[in-house]
Amino acid sequence: MVALLENPFRIGLQQERSPEPLIMVIFGASGDLTQRKLVPAIYQLKQERRLPPEITIVGVARRDWSHDYFRDQMKEGIEQFSDGIGSEELWQDFAKGLFYCSGDMDNPESYQKLKTFLGELDGQRGTRGNRVFYLAVSPNFFPEAIKQLGGAGMLQNPMKTRLVIEKPFGRDLSSSQVLNRVVQQTCREEQVYRIDHYLGKETVQNLLVFRFANAIFEPLWNRQFVDHVQITVAETVGVEERAGYYESSGALRDMVQNHLMQLFCLTAMEPPNSMNADSIRTEKVKVVQSTHLADLANLENSAVRGQYRAGWMRGKPVPGYREEPGVNPQSMTPSYVAMKLEVANWRWQGVPFYLRTGKRLPKKVSEIAIQFREAPFLIFQSAAQQANPNVLTIRIQPNEGIALKFDTKMLGSELRSRSVEMDFSYGSSFGAAASDAYNRLLLDCMLGDQTLFTRGDEVEEAWRVVTPALAAWESPGDPTEMPQYEAGTWDLPEADHLMQQDGRRWRRL
Ligand code: BG6
Repeated sequence: MVALLENPFRIGLQQERSPEPLIMVIFGASGDLTQRKLVPAIYQLKQERRLPPEITIVGVARRDWSHDYFRDQMKEGIEQFSDGIGSEELWQDFAKGLFYCSGDMDNPESYQKLKTFLGELDGQRGTRGNRVFYLAVSPNFFPEAIKQLGGAGMLQNPMKTRLVIEKPFGRDLSSSQVLNRVVQQTCREEQVYRIDHYLGKETVQNLLVFRFANAIFEPLWNRQFVDHVQITVAETVGVEERAGYYESSGALRDMVQNHLMQLFCLTAMEPPNSMNADSIRTEKVKVVQSTHLADLANLENSAVRGQYRAGWMRGKPVPGYREEPGVNPQSMTPSYVAMKLEVANWRWQGVPFYLRTGKRLPKKVSEIAIQFREAPFLIFQSAAQQANPNVLTIRIQPNEGIALKFDTKMLGSELRSRSVEMDFSYGSSFGAAASDAYNRLLLDCMLGDQTLFTRGDEVEEAWRVVTPALAAWESPGDPTEMPQYEAGTWDLPEADHLMQQDGRRWRRL
């Protein structure tokens, strides 16, 4: 337990300001993301009085919906996926600002129609020409939508218009470069907000505060004291209803290139000059630029993949990946990836970063574990059962918090030691659950704060790091060669090999 002290450190993210009146235009308004995450998050911001009354949402999709039908759909989403509408009066007030405009992503007329409609709304709602265009559509539509928005003159004013792009940003290095070029030809980088929802998680942001607001950890945060780092994002869910997307994505594109790389960057980056968006993003880019897979000549020594086969989760049988609806029975899409990364710089040379993520693993847990070097000389060798290196664990989710493991003497006349943990838990110290990542990201984007969004050069660098694995796994292979693990277990010998070759093992979670 950690007692809360006064004087909380305020990072430079612009939490307390309120956005200007604006229209948020959501492309993909009939999709899951809009109903489950985006509109519930904006509604919650309204409940928390973080938004001006003029805030307006315009949903755009192909279906022929009315404004009222769109409002009903969004209400359902808020009721089902968040804390509900609360007061009917508040909902009515919010609903007055919800509109729908049907249109085709590739039809210039749809954009003209939208432009005219937005102009009318400016007059009606007092939104002063401020726009945020949110692309919550399938990634193949990104380039077309951006070009069309540009062509219709809707991204012209960098002071008044912003563009939010959901992940995945490209499907490899070259497609991300092409997409970045389209973006650059249409608008300025200051207008672009590439979303990675991991950056909206409280605990991920806390990494910055933990590292750079505390003087005692930074001197230890380097090759002299750190033996290695393990970053785990384990999920219990399988592919669910998303085979259409996941089959062409897999764990490397879906999780490693973005979410795990963000956790890696914030752990490994140098201290930024200031907390402004560009200082932080520049340091993140620099560390990814220094990073590569540990053994490029023998890929299996630095990147492994796996696929879950049928097994048991919480006492219930679950199908294997290849038996899931919509999945090719010979699929070579990995649902698990583990990697060993090396960072070629003064701070980290020789310190491996092991990353792993997978679906249908025994536990939902995301954490970063910094394992320190062993004590150089053990004077207690005979008394201690074994030497236990210190481990600092940053728990991203669930049970968000930070724990430090160290050895202590057990009570009694004998000199025996064992490991104990000093533990800080967000839940018990702050007494409140962290808010959803989308609330934070949507608010920051409305405020024009890019700190928690990924810059174009960083996305490309992250693709570069994973390219050797993508290239090797992309070439057609023999389906029997895909390593399999039983659903509900960690049993993947290839992943264990990654650690064992270095005389290490994965943390048991
Ligand atoms: C998404 C992936 O970006 O992140 C999903 O597409 C994954 O496959 C999800 O399940 C995990 O997010 P969280 O916040 O539940 O860890």
